[in-house]
Amino acid sequence: MIKVLGSAFLLSTNNTSYAMRVLPTGQLEHLYYGQRIEADKEEDLLVLSEKHAFPLGNQIAYDEESSYSLENMRLEYSGYGKGDFREPLVELVFPDHTSTTDFLFDYATYNKEKKPLHTLPSSHGECDHLYIRLKERNHDVDLILDYYIYEEDVITRTTKIINHMKEDLIVERAMSLCLDFEDDQFEFITFNGGWADEMHKHIHNLSSAKIVNASCMGTSSSRAQNFVMLSRFAKEDEGEVYGFNLIYSGNHKEVVEVSSTHKTRIVTGINNEQFSYCLKSEEVFEAPEAIMGYSYAGFNGLSNIFHRFVNEHIIKKEWAYKERPILINSWEAMYFNVNEKRILSLAKEASEMGIELFVLDDGWFKGRADDTRGLGDWEVDRKKLPKGLDHLSRKIHKMGIKFGIWVEPEMTNENSDYYREHPDWVIKIDGQMQSLGRHQYVIDLSKDEVVDDMISRMTALFSSCQIDYVKWDMNRVMSDVFSTCRKGEVFHHYICGLYRMMDTLTSRFPHILFEGCASGGNRFDLGILSYFPQIWASDNTDSWCRFDIQNSYSYGYPQSTFTNHVSGVPNHQTLRVTPLAARFHVAAFGLLGYEVNLLDLSKKEKEDIKQQIIIYKKQRALFQFGNMYRVDMGWMVVDEKRSRAVGMLFKPINELSKKTVVFKCKGLDPLKRYHFYNQKMTFDIKEMGSLINTASPIHIKQGSLSHRVISKFVHLQGEEEDHYASGSLLMNAGVFLKQGFSATGFNEDVRFDPDFFSRLYFIEESAL
Ligand code: GLA
Repeated sequence: MIKVLGSAFLLSTNNTSYAMRVLPTGQLEHLYYGQRIEADKEEDLLVLSEKHAFPLGNQIAYDEESSYSLENMRLEYSGYGKGDFREPLVELVFPDHTSTTDFLFDYATYNKEKKPLHTLPSSHGECDHLYIRLKERNHDVDLILDYYIYEEDVITRTTKIINHMKEDLIVERAMSLCLDFEDDQFEFITFNGGWADEMHKHIHNLSSAKIVNASCMGTSSSRAQNFVMLSRFAKEDEGEVYGFNLIYSGNHKEVVEVSSTHKTRIVTGINNEQFSYCLKSEEVFEAPEAIMGYSYAGFNGLSNIFHRFVNEHIIKKEWAYKERPILINSWEAMYFNVNEKRILSLAKEASEMGIELFVLDDGWFKGRADDTRGLGDWEVDRKKLPKGLDHLSRKIHKMGIKFGIWVEPEMTNENSDYYREHPDWVIKIDGQMQSLGRHQYVIDLSKDEVVDDMISRMTALFSSCQIDYVKWDMNRVMSDVFSTCRKGEVFHHYICGLYRMMDTLTSRFPHILFEGCASGGNRFDLGILSYFPQIWASDNTDSWCRFDIQNSYSYGYPQSTFTNHVSGVPNHQTLRVTPLAARFHVAAFGLLGYEVNLLDLSKKEKEDIKQQIIIYKKQRALFQFGNMYRVDMGWMVVDEKRSRAVGMLFKPINELSKKTVVFKCKGLDPLKRYHFYNQKMTFDIKEMGSLINTASPIHIKQGSLSHRVISKFVHLQGEEEDHYASGSLLMNAGVFLKQGFSATGFNEDVRFDPDFFSRLYFIEESAL
């Protein structure tokens, strides 16, 4: 809802409000962002404006009449040169070589239109739209601020710069969002990491130094996730949290700065380092759309808002809430060593276990013996697959499962026909030694003809056989960046070219389920999710690491956007051995897949996986699209009606000083009554070691043949949890779980909980 009250604007969602006004001098003063407020008159909102009678000490007075300095105001946008020294939204160089900017209010209107951006992806769906035009006082340049107000407690912003001058305008910075708060009582939360080590949550206390979260490697990157939060020292379920994200997959920057008068500013947008854009006469520069959300129900409250927003307003309509198949991926099962026989036997085993999609990962195309060659040549390797992809995909479909394939369309190896034919189509500096990543070059998507050509190649491949799924990988970051376009524009043009390619191919092949990947989560962002509904969250499938990675993604992204695989042990990234159950329980919260040679597994492991698949299929809608909550040591997903839920408990280390473990639910209806029970589990007696002799009538020597034989037939029975209680009890008090194992006793009433133990709990509305 939008209210224009004199010079002030009040934007409201179901539970939040955002207010601003035009100052007498023409700048836009930010008045408020937080819990919903009501106001019907301009004077009500003016209560929120800053009262200034004079500028402080050596501050710059904006003009002789006004009593304030821009440095001490909360502003909707800001530039350099008129006394605001904080991180600006825009930085321009005019033809007269000046760079002071002073954008003043010119015009505003509002409607219900969600306008797409022309060069970049943007949110979609029903919303209110406020359009504000500002004009630069001394040059014919417009700054357009669009605000889109989504009922579900999200407001988005875009910034456009339009050059009406005859001469070129140099845009040195065009950020998307600037938000000022009156105080500095916040923590700034960022998610940083690296390859296979994504999404470490960092909590920064604010001080008068700037905190910068940024990427400059060509991708949004695992080093600095675009999604950040400002919290007023909130907890999971209480306190104020502001969340920010950017629909952009390239270099980005989020800066938080506390001013000399203790105001906090956050600015988000394209990283201005390495950025400089020449805007010709009458051209428009579109900055990426920025997302903001606010909750006073803590981090879970904000997550729920962002989850819903991503599913409803970012993911393409045809994929939103569409259940995704359980897949088997060939990578860790066979790496580059793929051939028809191995693929078909794995696919057959998978189909018999209930898996629904076979994904042929890297290694299937011409010359791809290892990662030094072949990228760019998207034709099947006839030595490995003599009868071709069409034959293979038909055979796999005949097994009753779907077929998917891996591609890396943004890359080429020097040792490839593609590179030999088009050495000038890659990002590099001719005549200099090039630094490569994974032996490959980045194809120069800043050039239109290169994008067109790759669209044709991918179109030919995707039409060549029955492809239901595509994993779109991107395995290096950029170095030696140079192209034919202006320095400072290459990174941005690359991203625009990438989006054009993704847009064309996803529209041309709407039935294909595309999954993004960039060595795991090196490009996990809303730009990619605008085209591909899901992303491979990390190359790290170790359930212990993965729990943290997924937990962190869940702050800003719904679990239906991250794919998780159950892989073999010792884990290929960490060499850690974690139980199959834990690997499944962690992977199930989101989009489930398997990435292991199923043929090498024991009978019990295969049986367990069959059971996992049955459970996942039964609860798929909840695992993929339920409202997700982070609970103490685990997660919960709850359906919209709050009549069904699944909870998960995960504990990496068994501590002997056993404290009572209580599973406290979240998201249920306090007034409903529920049946709470666990997944009944059995355990391999080998996991008890020689302790088994305390229960066995005969002595069993560890590792002996008899030990192995007995373990095939005799299993430890896991504890049973079976309770009925009200939602209020389950949420406020929780279920006191069975006692955990600790050497002095073990029977069916004891929770067998070695390191990395995990459990699933089912919670269903009940009349009993
Ligand atoms: C990347 C991906 C992996 C796999 C390999 C194949 O590392 O993240 O999942 O597809 O490439 O080369």
